[in-house]
Amino acid sequence: MTDPKDKLRRSQHWFGGTSKDNFIHRSWMKSEGLPADSFDGRPVIGICNTWSELTPCNQTFRELAQRVKHGVMQAGGFPVEFPVSSLGETLMRPTAMLYRNLASMDVEEALRAHPLDGVVLLAGCDKTTPATLMGAASVDLPTVVVSGGGMLNGNYRGQAIGSGTHVWKFSEAVNAGTMTLPQFMQAESSMSRSAGSCMTMGTASTMASLVEALGVALPTNAAIPAVDARRYELAQRAGRHIVDLVNRDVRLSQILTREAFENAIRVCGAIGGSTNAVIHLLAIAGRMGVPLTLDDWDRLGRDMPTIVNLMPSGKYLMEDFYYAGGLPVVMKRLLDAGKLHGEAMTVNGQTIAQNVADAECFNDDVIRPLDKPLVDQGGLAVLRGNLAPNGAVIKPSAATASLLKHTGKAVVFEDIEHYKTRIEDPDLDIDANSVMVLKNCGPRGYPGMAEVGNMGLPAKLLKLGVTDMVRISDARMSGTAFGTVVLHVAPEAAAGGPLALVKDGDMIELDVAQRKLQLLISDEELAQRRAEWQAPPEPASGYVRLYHRHVMQADQGADLDFLVGCRGDAVPRESH
Ligand code: FES
Ligand code: MG
Repeated sequence: MTDPKDKLRRSQHWFGGTSKDNFIHRSWMKSEGLPADSFDGRPVIGICNTWSELTPCNQTFRELAQRVKHGVMQAGGFPVEFPVSSLGETLMRPTAMLYRNLASMDVEEALRAHPLDGVVLLAGCDKTTPATLMGAASVDLPTVVVSGGGMLNGNYRGQAIGSGTHVWKFSEAVNAGTMTLPQFMQAESSMSRSAGSCMTMGTASTMASLVEALGVALPTNAAIPAVDARRYELAQRAGRHIVDLVNRDVRLSQILTREAFENAIRVCGAIGGSTNAVIHLLAIAGRMGVPLTLDDWDRLGRDMPTIVNLMPSGKYLMEDFYYAGGLPVVMKRLLDAGKLHGEAMTVNGQTIAQNVADAECFNDDVIRPLDKPLVDQGGLAVLRGNLAPNGAVIKPSAATASLLKHTGKAVVFEDIEHYKTRIEDPDLDIDANSVMVLKNCGPRGYPGMAEVGNMGLPAKLLKLGVTDMVRISDARMSGTAFGTVVLHVAPEAAAGGPLALVKDGDMIELDVAQRKLQLLISDEELAQRRAEWQAPPEPASGYVRLYHRHVMQADQGADLDFLVGCRGDAVPRESH
């Protein structure tokens, strides 16, 4: 027999009824000045806010939350805004990624512990999108994501400059002696000149695009600038839609299906998206219980051309992408070519095919037709071999074509400090054909898998005009970065992966077309070195010890092993 309580809206387990507990739940809320009918059974909508002054990319979120509230109220719901851990990419050390899983726990437990029927996730800076969505997936309430939107185009001396991308370019120019330090300082304020997240196709823009592709955000969510009035209008409509989703009981699991993830992977190739998306989507799928592997990325991305001409792979920025028509145009082009599941359902109650039916392109150089792509094979490639038995990732669209098949002598850096001291050594035996190898920067090693994989080239080679070299590590790289950079080598060095065993002078073969990454030494020699390898010590206590013991490798999404899966929205027992 069904418990009659199960027919109740989730929030009514707190706010309905006349018990002592119901009194407590309502009475203290009334101190916020709420009228009694707030508790009459209308949908209670959480607005999960990652606003923080330490996360400049999310600085507009208090205002954005107000607009979501307007929408919720217009649709007859009761909005309640609450804060969760915010993760800012630019300030957090050793890396914001160390805290993605921690923040996801915060979101998950906050959703389950409170009287919420649905949630709107406000996310912007890189890790705030996967962290909030991972937490929400483990609860499976009706859910909508509203992204914060990108900054306006950077502008330095009349030239468009992109978040991150130009930091790498300018700092190399300083090292090469072609830019002065005062110019470098001036560029700082020219780059970040408005509120918003990085306006290149870095991780924030990629994740804002992928939530739209997944159908968990509204059409055009990806590209409207943070300060454009239409961003606020979208937030207000999201508030209306979440009430509708609660009324129809459409859960996140009905949106985040296998088809939705396949659509997102395809879209990631088409937009030239960040390598970080691989790890985040694997982790979100893991929470939702949708089977997804690294090989799905290679298979679905293999024939996918990159058609969005944005930095770091191309030349434009997010503002241009929005004015050209934004993600609906990209999705319409993929759909027309049979590359998307058009029937996938989205949070506005329409399918992907319905949402993009009228999409119109206003600039074919920003969003290219499929037959005139920026890069023919734009998908991320998954490499394997004795150096990466469980896989490694490279973004061919951001690499140098001539280096995609390359054999060279390893120059090894044992960790990031070793790299920083050694790279400056004028006597370092390195040339343009060398393969730079960086160890101990993976999930356990760094810890947190920092964005250091695109390690800078030695100044003496930059001065000779060398612009790219093959680099291999167990690290990640910023989505705004570029170069022939092999990332996410699994297992990582700190977990005893073969990367830990590479020595100076070893020959390494990279063949992206063959999906191969091979250390050219004998199996006997490798076994010998493995016998001599010693694991680094684990952290003594605190969160980092929990993380170190439970973090999974990059090929599994780098989530904590005990967080995988959906634990549902069951109402916990009473508190008093
Ligand atoms: Fe926050 Fe790039 S640093 S989005
Ligand atoms: Mg980043």
